[in-house]
Formats: sequence, C-alpha cells, structure tokens
Amino acid sequence: MKRLSILMVALSGFLFLASAQPRPLKAVIDESLQFSVSQSLAMAKLMKSMPARLPRTLDASGKLVTSNSAWWTSGFFPGVLWYLYEYSGDTALLNAARMMTERVRDQQYTTDNHDVGFMLYCSFGNGLRLTGNDDYKKVLLRGAESLGTRFRPRIGCIQSWNADQRWQCPVIIDNMMNLELLFWASRESGDSKFRQWAVSHADTTMKNHFRPDYSTWHVIAYNPETGAVAARKTAQGFADESAWARGQSWGLYGYTMSYRDTRDPKYLTQACRIADFLTGHPRMPEDGIPYWDYDAPDIPNALRDVSAGAIMASALVELSQLVEAPLSAKYLAFAEKQIRSMASPRYRATMGANGNFILMHSVGNIPSRSEVDVPLTYADYYFVEALMRLRKLPGNR
Ligand code: GLY
Repeated sequence: MKRLSILMVALSGFLFLASAQPRPLKAVIDESLQFSVSQSLAMAKLMKSMPARLPRTLDASGKLVTSNSAWWTSGFFPGVLWYLYEYSGDTALLNAARMMTERVRDQQYTTDNHDVGFMLYCSFGNGLRLTGNDDYKKVLLRGAESLGTRFRPRIGCIQSWNADQRWQCPVIIDNMMNLELLFWASRESGDSKFRQWAVSHADTTMKNHFRPDYSTWHVIAYNPETGAVAARKTAQGFADESAWARGQSWGLYGYTMSYRDTRDPKYLTQACRIADFLTGHPRMPEDGIPYWDYDAPDIPNALRDVSAGAIMASALVELSQLVEAPLSAKYLAFAEKQIRSMASPRYRATMGANGNFILMHSVGNIPSRSEVDVPLTYADYYFVEALMRLRKLPGNR
C-alpha cells in the first residue's frame, strides 16, 4: 500500500513537471506550418473564384478585403504559398503559388511608388528561388529597373511616395525592405548600378532616419533640390517623435538583410543596435508582441501589432545566425519567445476561422483608422518565413 502511494506521488510529480515544460520548439514549428498549410489552401481555393484579386485583410464585420496587384501587399500571399510549398512539397500549393504569383506580374512596370520590392521579391523572388523559372528572373530584373527610376542622386535615396501637400520627397523606413530586390538584381545581372542604389539608400537612411537611441522616424522628407533633410515626421505612428512599432521592425530586418547581402560590418552593427533597442525596450510586453507604437499613450491597454512582431522575429532569427555568442543566443531566444506567442491561441486563429488568414491582431494604420486589430497578409508572410528560418536551424527539423 505504502509502495503504491509513493508511486502515485512520483507519477503525479512527473505529470506536473511534464505539463510545466514548454512544448518542444520543433513541435510548435511543425504544428504551426501544418496549420498554415490548411488555412492557405482554403484561402487559395477561395481566390480561384476571384480572378486578379489578392487577399489583404478582413473588415470590421469580418468580411474578406482583397486588393488588386497595385496595392503594396499584393506579393505576400503568393509568398506564403511558396514558403508552404517549400515546406510541404504539395503540388496543390505549387499550383496555387503559380496562380497567385501571375496576378502580380504587371507590377514589374510600376514606377509611381517604391513598393515594387515588396510586391515582386516575395512573390516572384520566392518562386525563382524554388523553381529556377527563367521567366520569373526577367520579371524581377524589369522590376528592379522600375524601382531604380525612383533613385534620387542628389539625396542618395529611392523616393518612397510621390510629392503631396505634406512633403516633396518622402522616404520611409519601410523602404529598406525594397533593397533586397536591388541586391539580388546586381548579383544576377552583374550590373553594379543596382547595388550602388541600394548601398547609397542604406547609408543615407542610416545617417538620417535614426535617433541616438537607434529608434527610427517613420518619414524623412527631403528637399529634392539640395538633398537636405526638410522634416522628420510620421504617417502611421502615434507622433512624429514616437517609435512606430512596424517601422522599427522594418529597420531591423532591412539592416540585417543589407549585412547579409554586402557583408559590410556597419550594417551588422546597426542591426544589432536596433535589435538591442527593441529587445530591451521597457515597454516591450512580456510575450514579445509589440504594442502598435512603443510610445502609444494608452500602454498597457494599447493594441498590439502582430505584424511588427512577425517581421521582428524573422529578422532576429536571421540576425542570430550572423553574430557570435552570446548575442546569437539572445536574439534567437527572443525570436523563439515571439514565435511561441504567435503560435498560441492569443494570436493564432483556429482552423477555418479568421477568413483563412493565419494570425489575428495586427494594426495597419491607426491614425487613418484603417485596418485596426485585424489579420494582415504580411503578418502571415513574416510569421511563415520566421518558422521556415527557424526550421532550418539544427534540432528543429
Ligand atoms: N509599408 C507600409 C506599412 O508598413 O504599413
């Protein structure tokens, strides 16, 4: 009898300890990718009946909002499909990825905004990486030429948006993301002009966009005649002087990628300083999913922006592989915490819900009251990318 009760105590102790252990990361990654496959196949099936449209978000009543190819997020759903095809090898995903990628093709000629890199590199770029399709290469090179028409030599940057009553030559931190297309185009074509544009943009942005604490302004308005900074503003953040969360993540990702593509150590230093600012921020929530603005006045009740968390996690996984210990472990641990949070029911949808998007609770543009606390196709893209990057690390396959 005594022996039985000792056994029972030991067993319940074991069960308690087992339930207190976090799930192995490998299991979290696999389960999230399998969930993403189901959601995305359902989304692709729906999109088949909506020619030329691409999924963007849900409206306040939960209805699907789509875009045409010209909206800056058009390349993300094709990119999600490519990553999930890479994960699963499922031909249904390959066919869906091809179908959705074709819908973005005309953006290779876009010269009226800077989003060409987002739109083409996530869609055609991933397609080329996985299939080697020569035709995709041509689209990407044409797109890089189009993006280059916005390079302003006097300023040293690619102009983001066109002039309006607010500013003459605005450059936003988000634009760092478009450099990936230019670095690729230079390697592919052997033409150094693409790299020169990208390096000049990254250097000028490093000089003018960052505050002494390594937070970034959202918009730098340049004087196109002199090339001087005319104003430092926000468009989507809480205030000109605040740290808009997604902008900080774009900066982190942008300099991590710039280091990967150039091996210039100053970009690595910049990426680490941004990472240290973010991971050590006193208003970074315990679960690693940022408030929509680090200076939002209603913290801790402010909305979270899961898209900012997903971009940051993906960048941190890459950065962790570019630095030495102990930084490497620090960045990877933070990304892992973010991934576990996003994979939890607090942020990840249930099967068939959330309009077939993967993640909930992102914020597009609070000052314009647009896309507030909704799923966003780019949150899904960077979440899936982060999972795929993590999965490639030893022990996670
Ligand atoms: N590039 C636009 C945004 O981050 O909302």
